[in-house]
Amino acid sequence: QPQKAARIPDGSLERIAQNGSRFMSDAREKKMELRKQVERARREKERDADPMKSSDVDSSAAATAIQAWKRQSRSATYGIRSHKSIREQRESLPVFAVRDQLLNIIKEHDMTVIVGETGSGKTTQITQYLAESGYGEKGIVACTQPRRVAAISVAKRVSEEVGCKLGDEVGYQIRFEDCTTTSTIIKYMTDGMLEREALVDPDMLKYSIIMLDEAHERTVATDVLFALLRDAVRRRKGSLKLIITSATLDSSKFSHYFDDCPVFHIEGRTFPVKIYYTKQPEKDYIEAAIDTVMDIHVSNPPGDILVFLTGREEIETCCETIVQKMSTLYKSDASVSELIVLPIYSAMPSEMQSRIFEPTPKGKRKVVIATNIAETSITIDGIYYVVDPGFVKVNAYDAKLGMDSLIVQPISKAQADQRSGRAGRTGPGICYRLYTKKAYEREMAANTVPEILRQNLSNTVLMLKAMGIEDVVHFGFMDRPKEQAILAALQELYILDALDSDGRLTRTGKYMSYFPMEPLMSKTMIQSVDFGCSYEVMVIIAMLSVPDVFYRPREQREKADKAKQQFDDYTGDHLTLLNVYEKWEDSEFSRTWCSDHYVHEKSMRKARDVKIQLGKIMGQLDRREGRRDSSIVSCKGDKEIIIKAFVSGYFKNCAKRVNNAGHYDEEGTFRTLVENTPVHIHPSSALFRKGGIDYVMYHTLILTNQEYMQCVTKIDARWLVKYAPRFYKQAAENELSLMKKREKIEPLWNRFDQGQEWRLSRGRR
Ligand code: CDP
Ligand code: MG
Repeated sequence: QPQKAARIPDGSLERIAQNGSRFMSDAREKKMELRKQVERARREKERDADPMKSSDVDSSAAATAIQAWKRQSRSATYGIRSHKSIREQRESLPVFAVRDQLLNIIKEHDMTVIVGETGSGKTTQITQYLAESGYGEKGIVACTQPRRVAAISVAKRVSEEVGCKLGDEVGYQIRFEDCTTTSTIIKYMTDGMLEREALVDPDMLKYSIIMLDEAHERTVATDVLFALLRDAVRRRKGSLKLIITSATLDSSKFSHYFDDCPVFHIEGRTFPVKIYYTKQPEKDYIEAAIDTVMDIHVSNPPGDILVFLTGREEIETCCETIVQKMSTLYKSDASVSELIVLPIYSAMPSEMQSRIFEPTPKGKRKVVIATNIAETSITIDGIYYVVDPGFVKVNAYDAKLGMDSLIVQPISKAQADQRSGRAGRTGPGICYRLYTKKAYEREMAANTVPEILRQNLSNTVLMLKAMGIEDVVHFGFMDRPKEQAILAALQELYILDALDSDGRLTRTGKYMSYFPMEPLMSKTMIQSVDFGCSYEVMVIIAMLSVPDVFYRPREQREKADKAKQQFDDYTGDHLTLLNVYEKWEDSEFSRTWCSDHYVHEKSMRKARDVKIQLGKIMGQLDRREGRRDSSIVSCKGDKEIIIKAFVSGYFKNCAKRVNNAGHYDEEGTFRTLVENTPVHIHPSSALFRKGGIDYVMYHTLILTNQEYMQCVTKIDARWLVKYAPRFYKQAAENELSLMKKREKIEPLWNRFDQGQEWRLSRGRR
């Protein structure tokens, strides 16, 4: 454990100016050599760059990091865990000092807001205190988390502290995964899961107390729960309690919203954090982050490093680069101590996740490269250095694509402060901000905009409607979304036939709400019953819901691609996914089959789980409808039917191969039918560089150097008119522009809001 506070030697700022390093440098030859090696490695990397680079990097980076850590953790010989007993550790947390006070306040009030520094023990301790003082006898003690990884990792930790098997007294529940039993007293869950439970049980009768954790994140689900749970608490008069917890929030606003409830502050222990800014804006923040990490490792005293990046690909690329650079460095200089590189992001295998909490072996340094999850949701001990490039990936409505997409944007000041705070938990620390002081002061927003104000709301609106809440515009949101955004959601649901023209939930809409997925998907699932191919659609949807199943290691790229080609279907990727699943099933879910065919076994098993879950939901639906025959039916390989079922849900996600002038595009550019955005078929697609395709349907768009359609299938344009009559119509011959003449299809989208009579429920406009 590092004893001395890390400190930048005086005069280092001048040196920065001299040698061009961002923050500091000891300008020894070692470092010059390092730079050269780094440069070489980078050039080599660029040489074999190709559009699919990232997926190769993924697997090998993860593998390298896992390997490195495995070697490490075996030799881990000391650390907090082995020194302190669990009890001592629990009692050393700031929240322990106020345990009784806290329990008293909760006892006396139905709702309580609790604010406390990250790492003070809110998430792991308060639930246990509540269970210890008897709340578990009257119902479950629930705690929500915005992120799946956090829910799982915290549940694991608490089950260790309690000394039970995960899933017994302490469990967790996330989408498609329920790790609880009848004996579960403390349940960690994603906010989205609890929101779904409100559909069947608006009074939350299972629970005696619910803790909405990480409230400052303001996810859509948490915001919806604010209103739903406030109502449930009011209705249940004393038998349901609500706790809102957070690292930072506007406590008077929250208190006011929750019926003027008390606000309890947990005093944390924090050490000063020195903050450094860059002199100039960084061109490439990943590169800058890597350089900064290397600089810290080579020239600073012991202490672990935490780096914030925006997503999995970035993180894995960064991990791989650091591992590469370090291995070159070890070779050239035996005195350099080992740097353990650990990624953390939500889709990461769970064995890896728990490793970030293990103490760093003596004489080594750990660098954790994380998404925003490490900002407040999880706490890693021993961090002395934070590297903050200042960006975060958020889900936002993208007008150009006409859909929600993940975009990278600058963080808010509040987030920047949270991030730097991570360096001051164990002792005085340093935060390197890879942006200028001016950017922090003048360009960053003070607070993060709640998700509900920037995201597509169709899923939320559908759920509210399914809960019987008709007047969604006046729903009791803490921050009410713009009426325009709600109207857009209502329109989208109308087009999907989930609502009628009065804005009332249709039978289709009701069925859709049973499925925990986006409306386009649930619509497809429902429609597939009528098309007679619900079995196949279920499999494809399950495959679409898991991380990429194709494994493409850098050294065996050609072999892997050949293996994948065997599955490729001429119609496109949806049926390719079905092929893969069916072949795996034929092999009796064999592990060797997976490795022989370059398929990720983990993803496949997850897909099988999702398929089973979907089957259960279909079964519930059947029972509710009093159907005697199962609605899970197979079309026995009729490909066209399957694609038509997808078209009936994904008709908005279609594109036509045309150039700017409206002619067939030789270069292979497509344009989306709704927004006319130029898009391309992703190189991983079975349809990549295939000719003779006019129209396609895609699952998602991703933006790299250009817009790519992922999971693409050929369609017949006439199906659009047939299966989405509220959205497309055949254009009248005399109104056709030259461009439209060839296919006679016109999206109704833009005319829709002017032409159609649109009423909100209860006759208001
Ligand atoms: O919720 P809050 O940020 O207030 O703190 P917490 O998540 O309850 O964490 C309390 C302590 O438990 C921290 O010191 C964490 O490092 C530790 N912890 C851990 O060691 N392993 C986990 N999986 C979660 C927390
Ligand atoms: Mg917490």
